[in-house]
This record gives sequence, structure tokens and C-alpha cells, in this order.
Amino acid sequence: MIILENITKIYSTRRGRVHALDGISLQIDKGNFVVIRGPSGSGKTTLLMIIAGMLRPTGGRTVVEQSDLYEISPKERAKFRADNIGFIFQMFHLVPYLNITENIALAGPAAGKKTDKARLAALLDDFGLAERAFHKPSQLSAGEKQRTAIARALHNQPKIILADEPTGNLDPENAHTVLAHLRDFHRQGGTVIVVTHGSEADRYADCIIHLINGRVENLG
Ligand SMILES: Nc1ncnc2c1ncn2[C@@H]1O[C@H](COP(=O)(O)OP(=O)(O)OP(=O)(O)O)[C@@H](O)[C@H]1O
Ligand SMILES: [Mg+2]
Repeated sequence: MIILENITKIYSTRRGRVHALDGISLQIDKGNFVVIRGPSGSGKTTLLMIIAGMLRPTGGRTVVEQSDLYEISPKERAKFRADNIGFIFQMFHLVPYLNITENIALAGPAAGKKTDKARLAALLDDFGLAERAFHKPSQLSAGEKQRTAIARALHNQPKIILADEPTGNLDPENAHTVLAHLRDFHRQGGTVIVVTHGSEADRYADCIIHLINGRVENLG
């Protein structure tokens, strides 16, 4: 369960303050598939990062899986992330100097866990990456990069996947593969929150949240 209470986020920059989120309250039940939609700059990435425990809001409360995320210590928050969250970043965010296997395994050691070789091999296989296991990200196609990013998000067996435009730069076939993986994770009981401009994910969605100017727009 994810509970946001009156979340605000103001970025302070040298050129002034940007009100990115302006009082967001919402509740997402465990096991739901949620689509977030909204114009560029409406606060979608900001909202995902706050839910992930990666960005402290200016005000409000963020409770995920019973943890009050910005009340606990940074160390507890890091553990919370490793145990609960898989994040698929807008534009992949793969580490350029690590090969694909190392990129997928990245979250394990960071969380103080041993790399599970059998799980890694299974993920590479599931995502059609076995033959690319020792390639670097620059040697992959966009679809392969995005599958790597998803395999990485799944590696720690999270409860929640947060995906920021995971199909943004992909052709329809690769986009479909990506959504199928998110749907499978959801079918196995996982919670999915996906930011997407496209409408392909709508048929899996339990709910669609529209963000406009940092506020949730109720479209009835
Ligand atoms: N680090 C930052 N410093 C200052 N302003 C920021 C920062 N990050 C985001 N913003 C601003 O906050 C607002 C919301 O940004 P955010 O990235 O959440 O939007 P978005 O809905 O994800 O947009 P897009 O669809 O283009 O990815 C924008 O006006 C953006 O310029
Ligand atoms: Mg964004």
C-alpha cells in the first residue's frame, strides 16, 4: 500500500523556485497497476522518485509498505529501497563501463546482498539477453537496453516497480515486450506504477492518474 498525503515539492534553483508538486494526496493499493499520465513538466518523474524514497518532498507524508519514508534514517531508507523498489529510469540509466550482467546485478551488492548467479542467468534468459551478457550498454539496441533496465529492476524481487516512460524510445514490438514484462510482474502480485504517454498500458490499468501542473486532475 502506498499513501501520499498532501505532497509538495519545490525545487530551489538560482533562478528561483519551481513548484513541481502542489498538494498530491493519493492511495494506491497493493497489487494495483497504475498509469500516470500528464504533460511534460507536470511532475511525473518527481512523483515517482518521491514514492521510490529517492527524493525528499518539501512537505507532506509518504508511507510505502508501512514505512514513513522520510521519517526513517537514510540507511533504513536505502534498505527499504533495496527490499521493495525496482526503478526503471527514463532513458535506461545503465552504467556505461559495466557489462549487461553487471548492470543487472548492480542492485544486489548495493543492498549488501550476495549475487545470486542462478537468478541472474534466469533473468538474462527470460529477457533474451543471454547472448549479450558480457556486452557493454553502448553495444546494445534500444530494446535490449530497456530489457536490461527491467531485468535490473526485477533482480532484487521488489514488491513495487516504478517505471518512468519505459517504452519512450522503443518501436511498437519492443514496447509491447516491455509492457508484457510489467504485466507479468503485476499478475504475480506486484504493484506497478508506470508513467507513459502511450495508451498501450491502459488495458492493464486498475487506475489512471492524470497530473497537470503538479496536481492530480480528477477526470471523473
Ligand atoms: N532538479 C530540478 N531542479 C529544478 N527544477 C526541476 C528539477 N527537476 C525537475 N524540475 C522541474 O520540476 C517540474 C516537474 O519536473 P518532472 O521531471 O517531474 O516532470 P515530468 O512530468 O516528469 O516531465 P517529462 O514528461 O518531460 O519527463 C518541471 O517544471 C521541471 O523543470
Ligand atoms: Mg519525466
